[in-house]
Amino acid sequence: MKRISKAEFAERRTRLMEQMDTGSIAIVPGAVETIRNNDVHHPFRQNSNVMYLSGFAEPDAVLVLIPGREQGQYILFVRDKDPEREIWDGYRAGPEGAVAEYDADDAFPIDDIDDILPGLMEGRSRVYSPMGVDDAFDHQLMVWVNQIRSKVRTGARPPEDFSDISHLLHDLRLIKSRQEIAIMREAATISARAHKRAMLACKPGKMEYQLQAEIEHECMLAGSPWPAYPAIVGAGANGCILHYIENNSKIQDGDLVLIDAGCEMQYYASDITRTFPANGHFSEPQRQLYDLVLASQYAAIDQVKPGNTWISAHETVVRVLVEGLVELGILQGDINQLIEQESYKPFFMHKTGHWLGMDVHDVGDYKVGGEWRVLEPGMVLTIEPGLYISPHNQDVDERWRGIGIRIEDDVVVTRDGCDILTRDVPKEARDIESLMNGGQSSLF
Ligand code: GLY
Ligand code: MN
Ligand code: MN
Repeated sequence: MKRISKAEFAERRTRLMEQMDTGSIAIVPGAVETIRNNDVHHPFRQNSNVMYLSGFAEPDAVLVLIPGREQGQYILFVRDKDPEREIWDGYRAGPEGAVAEYDADDAFPIDDIDDILPGLMEGRSRVYSPMGVDDAFDHQLMVWVNQIRSKVRTGARPPEDFSDISHLLHDLRLIKSRQEIAIMREAATISARAHKRAMLACKPGKMEYQLQAEIEHECMLAGSPWPAYPAIVGAGANGCILHYIENNSKIQDGDLVLIDAGCEMQYYASDITRTFPANGHFSEPQRQLYDLVLASQYAAIDQVKPGNTWISAHETVVRVLVEGLVELGILQGDINQLIEQESYKPFFMHKTGHWLGMDVHDVGDYKVGGEWRVLEPGMVLTIEPGLYISPHNQDVDERWRGIGIRIEDDVVVTRDGCDILTRDVPKEARDIESLMNGGQSSLF
């Protein structure tokens, strides 16, 4: 299993500190455990920003960076060692472990943060923190500032400027390193195998959740602790519900099955959608719409290269889909006008993709200075056009109704184009049919 090296975590902190003002401090809180009921917690997942900067996966941590501080620039507040609790809940690194195992210059028990952190903030002119994300943390930050303000008559200098750290941090996270891409490739490969497994397992009469189980089984066998997001398994008209996660319907003969699922590996997401016929054979109308979505996806992937904007893939998809919908008689009129009036929106109502990384809808601005962002090597994004013909849409011929199709791949921008991380799972209609009908029975 691939992991981010300690050297890379250190490099990330250095690069962030290089961008911070001199005389500033960054304070980044980690995630806290949330109670499911009584003494049962939801599975804990570290906040992606803290994970990105430290690799530290325990609850109740706060990461502090103080560029230029002679006694140490990188400080962690962590849960203290507790032999009694460790019998129940497992190992805690404690402050000593935070230094020895996570390279902190200094570390303190989280219970002492109110006594120690104001002293570290004192004399720093600017504080960077994630602002407006967690009310309790925003409030606590002001409590610490006010502790310093209450001592101005003794010469204490409280910080005067407050900045959202997200802009700096998210720009770093947007461009993936070699190590990150290697992990994302691993996640994508596992998810691709899982999608193939679901296609092979599918039969009319099965329940949607049984295909979800096939996907999650394959991912967990490969070491994924949890999905990157709740799996969508929609058969028939359920495929037209964009965020359908009930996954509790019976799959009928003649249905298309839309599966949008991906595993997380080492805190990196994969995000794949495939749509396939439950019985292994596309009907004629299904095939016509499927080939149209696929053509739009190929055209969009062709647009993913340095120098092109993020939105160009979306605009390409819209044009290909509108031209195809006119050809099929689902839309009527002038292509440019239909695009301008967004007449395709009843059938394609989302954008073509999003940044992908530690979060499935990853951080990073889509516009910079009011202009759509230009693609650069190392960015990872999804390309996921779709067509969803509502079963209730009386404006289209009956044969199209209730068909929902999305095809989604994960691509990394390279120096001269892009690399498809999720290429292992078939998407040509004939390749899907061949896989489902025994033409290629192995998962590998
Ligand atoms: N699975 C969420 C998405 O495709 O954006
Ligand atoms: Mn998806
Ligand atoms: Mn997606």
